[in-house]
Amino acid sequence: MLVHLASGRTVAINFRETAPAALKARMFLDKNGRVDTQKALHSYLSLGVPGTVMGLNMALKKYGTMTLLKVMAPAIHLAKTGFVLSPFGARLIQRHVKYFRTQQNTDSVYLKHGQGLHAGDRLVQKNLATTLADIAKHGSNVFYHGWIAHALVKASQKHQGVLTLKDMARYHVLFSTPMQCQYRGYRVVTFPPPSSGVTVCEILNIVSGYDLHQMGFHSAATVHVNAEAMRYAFADRNQFLGDPRFVNNPIARLLSAQYAASIRQKIMPNQAGDSRQIGFIKNQTGEKMQTTNYSVVDKKGNWVDVTYTLNGFFGNKKIAGKTGFFLNNEMDDFALDTQHPNLFGLVQGKANAIAPNKRPLSSMSPTLLLQDGKPFLLLGAAGGSTIITTIVQTIENVVDFKMQLNAAVNQPRYHMQWLPDKIFMEPFAFSQDTQNALKAMDYRLQTGSVFKTQRWGQATAIVFDQKREAFLGANDNRRPNGLAKGA
Ligand code: DON
Repeated sequence: MLVHLASGRTVAINFRETAPAALKARMFLDKNGRVDTQKALHSYLSLGVPGTVMGLNMALKKYGTMTLLKVMAPAIHLAKTGFVLSPFGARLIQRHVKYFRTQQNTDSVYLKHGQGLHAGDRLVQKNLATTLADIAKHGSNVFYHGWIAHALVKASQKHQGVLTLKDMARYHVLFSTPMQCQYRGYRVVTFPPPSSGVTVCEILNIVSGYDLHQMGFHSAATVHVNAEAMRYAFADRNQFLGDPRFVNNPIARLLSAQYAASIRQKIMPNQAGDSRQIGFIKNQTGEKMQTTNYSVVDKKGNWVDVTYTLNGFFGNKKIAGKTGFFLNNEMDDFALDTQHPNLFGLVQGKANAIAPNKRPLSSMSPTLLLQDGKPFLLLGAAGGSTIITTIVQTIENVVDFKMQLNAAVNQPRYHMQWLPDKIFMEPFAFSQDTQNALKAMDYRLQTGSVFKTQRWGQATAIVFDQKREAFLGANDNRRPNGLAKGA
């Protein structure tokens, strides 16, 4: 959670999941030493100690004006009495029916007569309502120390997981100062490691040496310099960044003006770079997801962007006992194996290796741009590794290409993440001319996402429109269940 208070103070609230103390990378490997996808994504081993419950509670305690009972009441009501599924929500359930069939506590909620609920059906989550009501009444304690912790640990032990009550009890939220960089006169305030604000800033630093406005929106020249900046910044991310309580993140070096200039020196005119020549590994492919982002401005002038996630769709697809909520599979965000890609195709190094109580590196990067010290553009996104490039391109669309916020958020996008060495593009992102020009520079282009399920980053954003003296909000069309709303 990135917070900019009306007083001008900014705070980064880190409630990222932590690795249980007994978790080891080798537990995820099969007999051939390769990461077993089942273990990495669909098992109790993939579960990190959840942070969202304490994170939201602490934020409310420190900065909120309402009681926990009051803020949770609408969610409890929705869980208890249900809500009608949209086509989008129903589709997500339909795609995961085979997982829900394997457990009685998912079958009874998400399926009807063994089939996934349909659009128009009511999704009622009674157990979830009880859990939420208990949290509303007792605060995070019931989650980290009470019956919910016991239920998680019991289910984990039953299914070869390593989570303990001690892991749950020692979870804590970290408050820190957000990191900053400059982009064309704006102050960019974003989330420090283990989030990926460093990577957002590294890309922006590199491309700030080019006149993107003059080069043109989605011209081959603009795509070229963006793709190269992404290539170098992801190579650095995946090699050097990790939980700052465990590894030293060379932020000052990666974000120095000299470093950006040295990368620009390496970017050849009209020639794609080669990922095999840079970074710590010479290889690699990719692959799905469940993340939520929201951006809020209140009447007092507080700006908040929150990204939180279970990682894959429905996390590890498991619900413990009567708790009623899905568990994350966030441990796959660690470099379980430094030679092979994770869920998002990311090949990552030792800095992001598992260690007891360590937090995995995340692509989540809630970001705020200030102009003359005043908040101007607030944004964040869901979408695995494409979060980073979604945020960069949305900033460029507003700042360089002067687009209206809705247009900026909804433009087709492209994505490059060092490995695989390809530019992924959404349908209609580039004209045939542009594609030809990029191929002539030796780029490999692929329509579709770096993930197998064809998902792209989905942003939410708020901008302050000075001329109209109004806040404009945008919700990405790619996530039709969201909305922009003034209240
Ligand atoms: O923290 C991360 O980078 C991933 N766990 C985010 C996953 C994600 O965004 C999936 N989304 N829609």
